[in-house]
Amino acid sequence: MARKLLIEHAAVPGITTYEVYRKHGGYASVEKALKTMSPEEVVEEVKKSGLRGRGGAGFPTGMKWSFLAKPEGVERHLVCNADESEPGTFKDRYLMEKLPHLLIEGMITSSYALGARRSYIYIRGEFMYILRILEKAIAEAYANGMLGKNILGSGYDLDLVVTPGGGAYICGEETALIESLEGKRGNPRMKPPFPAVKGLWGNPTVVNNVESIAAVVPIVNEGGEAYAAIGIERSTGTKLISTSGNLVRPGVYEIELGLSVEEFIYGDDYCRGIANGKKLKACVPGGSSVPILPHYLVTKTAAGTDRLMTYESLADGGFASGSMLGSGGFIVFDEDQCIVRNTWNFARFYAHESCGQCSPCREGTGWMEKVLYRLEHGNGTLEDISLLEEINKKIEGNTICPLGDAAAWPVAAAIRHFRDEFEWHVKSPQEAQTRNYGLIQVPLEA
Ligand SMILES: Cc1cc2nc3c(=O)[nH]c(=O)nc-3n(C[C@H](O)[C@H](O)[C@H](O)COP(=O)(O)O)c2cc1C
Repeated sequence: MARKLLIEHAAVPGITTYEVYRKHGGYASVEKALKTMSPEEVVEEVKKSGLRGRGGAGFPTGMKWSFLAKPEGVERHLVCNADESEPGTFKDRYLMEKLPHLLIEGMITSSYALGARRSYIYIRGEFMYILRILEKAIAEAYANGMLGKNILGSGYDLDLVVTPGGGAYICGEETALIESLEGKRGNPRMKPPFPAVKGLWGNPTVVNNVESIAAVVPIVNEGGEAYAAIGIERSTGTKLISTSGNLVRPGVYEIELGLSVEEFIYGDDYCRGIANGKKLKACVPGGSSVPILPHYLVTKTAAGTDRLMTYESLADGGFASGSMLGSGGFIVFDEDQCIVRNTWNFARFYAHESCGQCSPCREGTGWMEKVLYRLEHGNGTLEDISLLEEINKKIEGNTICPLGDAAAWPVAAAIRHFRDEFEWHVKSPQEAQTRNYGLIQVPLEA
C-alpha cells in the first residue's frame, strides 16, 4: 500500500481540532524548523525534496523560494493559493476541510523559511464553510502559541490571515489573486516583474498551492532526501488526485508518483475500473485545462511503454499524444460520453471565466463556445471544425496569462483525437443528438 504523507489522518475523529491534530504528531515540523533549523536550511530541504508546485504548472518549489528577493527592511509574504476552481480538481478543498491544521502548519514552517511575517490564505469564495473551519483552526493555533508573537520562544513572529476569493476562476492565477487580495478586480498582471520581486502590496511574494505548502510538513519532518526517494525522475513524493466521471470509486486519492495509470484506474486500492461495466473512452488526467487522451493513450504512451502518474510520463509525446499531470483533476469518460458535448461544456466554462483583458482570449473563448454549441446542437458544418482550429491558434500563446491556453488546448486535443466524432455531429446531426450520450458530471461547484 502506498504511503500517505498528507492525508493519512484525514479520517481520525476530531482531527480538525488542535488537540487531536497535535496528538497525531501535528506541528512537529514547526518545532523542528523553528528550534533547530535556520530558514535557509528549511529552503535547502525543500530543494532537496524535488517538490514541484501542485497548483498545475509543476514549477520546483525550492527554486521558486530561492528567487524571493530579500531587500533590507522590506516585508515579504507567503500567499497560499486556495482558489481551486479548475473543473475536475477538488483535492485542496478536501485537504483543507479534513486537515485544516496541516495547511496552517505548512504555512508556519514555509513562512519561517521565507522570512514572511504576515501570510495569507486566499480561499475560493464559494468555500465559505471551509473558510470557517480554517478560521477556527487559526484561532486555536494562536491560542496555543503557534501563531502570533515569539512562536515557541524562537523570536519568530507570524500573523496568518484567511480571506475569501473574488468568485472567479481567474482569481486563481497568481497575479490576479494578488490584485484581488489587494481589493481590486482580479485581472492578471503583466510579467515581469514577477511576484518574487514585486507581489502583494509591491512586496516580494511567493504564491504556492495548498498541497505544495502542506507537503513542506513531511519534507521538514522526514528530510528532503526521504521525500525525494518516493517517485521517479523529477516527479518526487506523493500527489493528491481528485477523480471524477465514470469510475467505480471516484474521489480523492493520495498516490506515490510513479504509479501506473493502469493500476490507478483499475486497481483495488484506487478507482476500481470503469463504472457499470463500460469501456474506457478517454481521460483528462490533470483538470479541464489539459489535453484529453483517447483510451489507447491513457495507459500506454505512443511508444507503447506504460503510462505513469508522473509529470514526465503524462506529458510523453508532447501534445500530439500526451497530456499533463496539471492540478491532478483526473476525469474519466466511458464509451457513452459525447466528446463534442463535453468539449462544449468546458469551452462554456472558459468563455464565462475569461477576464476579458486580452482580446484573443475574450473574443476567442466566446467564439469557440458558440461554434461548439452549433456543432453539438446539429447546426455545425465541416468548416466549423477548421474554424475552431484557427481560433485555437490565435489564442494560444497570445495572452497575458495562461487562461487562454487552458481554453484552447482541450479543444485542439479533442479535435486531434476525436475528429471523426466532430464530423459525425455534422453529417448525422439527428443521430448524434438522439444517441444516449450523457453529459459527464464534473464537479464545478462545491
Ligand atoms: C486561470 C488560472 C487559474 C489558476 N487557478 C489556480 C488555483 O486555483 N490554485 C492554484 O494553486 N493554482 C492556480 N493556478 C496556478 C497559479 O497561477 C500558480 O502557478 C500556483 O498557485 C503556484 O503554486 P505552486 O507553485 O505551488 O503550484 C491558476 C493559473 C491560471 C492561469
